[in-house]
Amino acid sequence: MQNTNIDINKTMWVGILCSIERVWFVCTGNTCRSPMAEVLFRKLAQERGLDIEVASAGVYAAPGAPASSGAKRAVRKWGVSLDDHRARSTEEMRFGPGDLVLTMTRRHRDLLLAQHPHLEGRVHVLKSFVGHPADPDVADPFGGSDSHYLQTAQEIYDLLPLLIQKLENENRLEMVMKRVAVGCDHAGFVLKPTVLETLEQERCQVLDCGTFSAESVDYPDFGAAVAKKVVSGEADFGIVICGTGIGISVAANKVSGARAALCHDTYSARMSRAHNDANILALGARVIGPGLAQEIIRAFLNEPFEGGRHQKRLQKIAELEEGRI
Ligand code: RB5
Repeated sequence: MQNTNIDINKTMWVGILCSIERVWFVCTGNTCRSPMAEVLFRKLAQERGLDIEVASAGVYAAPGAPASSGAKRAVRKWGVSLDDHRARSTEEMRFGPGDLVLTMTRRHRDLLLAQHPHLEGRVHVLKSFVGHPADPDVADPFGGSDSHYLQTAQEIYDLLPLLIQKLENENRLEMVMKRVAVGCDHAGFVLKPTVLETLEQERCQVLDCGTFSAESVDYPDFGAAVAKKVVSGEADFGIVICGTGIGISVAANKVSGARAALCHDTYSARMSRAHNDANILALGARVIGPGLAQEIIRAFLNEPFEGGRHQKRLQKIAELEEGRI
């Protein structure tokens, strides 16, 4: 019989930091604060030779709306124009892994995260991000006089050198969204490169718990190793792979606190998160191909738990584990 005990010390965290390719500024309607930040940042970044894209959007924006006249007049002080600006709604935006999103207020951050939960870790309040944690909100000049707009534009403008300096120093910002432990047996090994690649694309921190070759091993060892990493809190999620996904999910689920879901379609993957708060995704490498596996992983990682009525059902599962029911 082969010795398939895993020396967990041999596992290692791989992949971590993410280059920032684009900065988003977000406010409410994308007609004053965030577009002013966008054009002012673009000007300063160009002057400093910082190669980074910039965009803006609003959590409640009416797409296509022009910038407010006060904002248009205010930014002229810096020789930039908002004449061609058209509002964009964050609801319609697809944010990429290299996106850093900076909101004008804490409320914008919370609303944006409610719209795009997968942005957790990449959304910050602008003032806090550049080191002004006290009074972190940039107030809305909407409906105010030209001097209000100018004051707000100046407030934003004064923050931007700090932001640019931070980006110059840390253009590989730590934006790890999720820590994911991965484990497979010999049959799942063929799918592991796809899983690791997908996790890298999703900018996850990955703990590879093996196996590390196609040599025959026993799936319970790897299911348990991943589940223990998740339950202990060392990893936020796990992905386990065997031939069918069945054996390794059964094994993972024997670890108290593990909720491993075997999913071979994206609907199940989403529901396993939304309703079951699954913390481990199980895949069968002999059942699905790499393309579908990638979509399932993305669906799983990006779906939040709904809580509410589902919470009490999870509580019952926990009681079952404890032998209380
Ligand atoms: C290994 O041959 C296979 O039995 C295993 O990978 C898995 O499918 C078990 O459920």
